[in-house]
Amino acid sequence: MKAGVTRFFAVCAAAGLGSVAGCGTPEAPLPDPLALATAANESGAPRTLEVTLTAQETSWDFGASKPSPVWSYNGTVPGPLLDARVGDRLVVHFANRLPEATTVHWHGLRLPNGMDGAPDVSGPVAAGGTFTYDFILKDAGLFWFHPHLRTDVQVERGLTGVIRVRGVDEPVVGTDVDEERVLVFDDVRVNDDGTFPTYLDDNSKMMGREGNTLLVNGRRTPTLSLRPGALVRWRVLNVANGRFFNFHIPGVSFHVVGSDGGSFAEPYDTDHLLIAPAERYDVYFRAPSTPGMLPLTSEPYDRGHDSGVRPPVVIAQLNVSGAAVTSSRPFPNVAPIASPIPVGAGTPRLPFVLAEGTDARGEFKFTVNGATYPNVPTVSTRVGEPFVLRVENQSEMDHPFHLHGTFFQQLDRDGVAIAAGRRVAKDTIVIPAKATLNLAANFDEPGMWMYHCHINEHSEAGMMGMIHAAR
Ligand code: C2O
Ligand code: CU
Repeated sequence: MKAGVTRFFAVCAAAGLGSVAGCGTPEAPLPDPLALATAANESGAPRTLEVTLTAQETSWDFGASKPSPVWSYNGTVPGPLLDARVGDRLVVHFANRLPEATTVHWHGLRLPNGMDGAPDVSGPVAAGGTFTYDFILKDAGLFWFHPHLRTDVQVERGLTGVIRVRGVDEPVVGTDVDEERVLVFDDVRVNDDGTFPTYLDDNSKMMGREGNTLLVNGRRTPTLSLRPGALVRWRVLNVANGRFFNFHIPGVSFHVVGSDGGSFAEPYDTDHLLIAPAERYDVYFRAPSTPGMLPLTSEPYDRGHDSGVRPPVVIAQLNVSGAAVTSSRPFPNVAPIASPIPVGAGTPRLPFVLAEGTDARGEFKFTVNGATYPNVPTVSTRVGEPFVLRVENQSEMDHPFHLHGTFFQQLDRDGVAIAAGRRVAKDTIVIPAKATLNLAANFDEPGMWMYHCHINEHSEAGMMGMIHAAR
């Protein structure tokens, strides 16, 4: 509370905003242009979050040029942040007011198969149709939701939203950390008049579409304020179709404590944080002790086909200002969420070979085990029986591999074991070009579970399949 009051006075005084709404009383929270929208809880029942979610056509100003004709959940890009606690029930009354069919997929959540939003499992939600998603939030972590139909178009147009599921022992803002933010990173390609191009060039088909406008929580290159010396927690998510972000802040080291649905037994420090489409990271860092402006950049990273040969790009500006924080809190201890999945000599190994090529008409195609979805043979496993996905990437570029319905833990890369303290419950992981990863997994719900590359142009061009988990 004390820190909040100090911050209030510092910001209002510095901005000369004495008479502006929000600066008149110390109780009023600061207006935060990067705050995500929320959805009203319609339930009075304990441990239940019940919301209405509507996919609709909306005009949204990215700050690029003119407002864009986006598709949104509830009128904002990203859509509402759904905030819950592990064990809560989530009920979502979904209405599709788009001109075409869609679904809502709950990326990373373990849930009943029929709630997964996979169109070939539970059917699409037709234009004008409705569906109620209803399930228990089994895992703590940062998750997200998006369509699973024409994903390359529907996600690009703005249909994304975040679910934050808090665990039992989460660090508390004001006690354990000074500030916490959920940051959704994206890029869109928009024309000067704000519209989306209808034509996809060959490079975008091959690499996944990269936009000309970088976004943080739906805003172009925003400014984020940080107090000098503050211990900051960022929960970051990449919802871009194809862009990998390689975060860097001059003079700042990221303390990485978790990713997707888990935490590391051994957190690590890095000054470059690579985040592929659909991944999430939970990071802490200390803001510089001297006021000033710092860029948050994405540094070059070669994900194949010479994509590393280009300059860094500025994603946001960090404005280190206001009253310095002198508490010098240590990085919080975070208990690892996942326990190791037991793997032995008898554990089934399922091979997945990712490759790229062109079909008879010269169109790019991305294959799994030699075929494109829906012709990729379904692989079978059993609920409660650990198995290993052996994912071999024969192509010339990285593919972020995503599995529905459960988490996996990376065992190794090209035969080199991953230290136990760095095995974390992931649902999306980069399979680097020409590399092979073994991933241990275990379904706890039966059904047909999708897996695919999360470069949306690649999954739509065939790099997708199903695993059947039998009772
Ligand atoms: Cu984020 Cu199959 O999806
Ligand atoms: Cu891919």
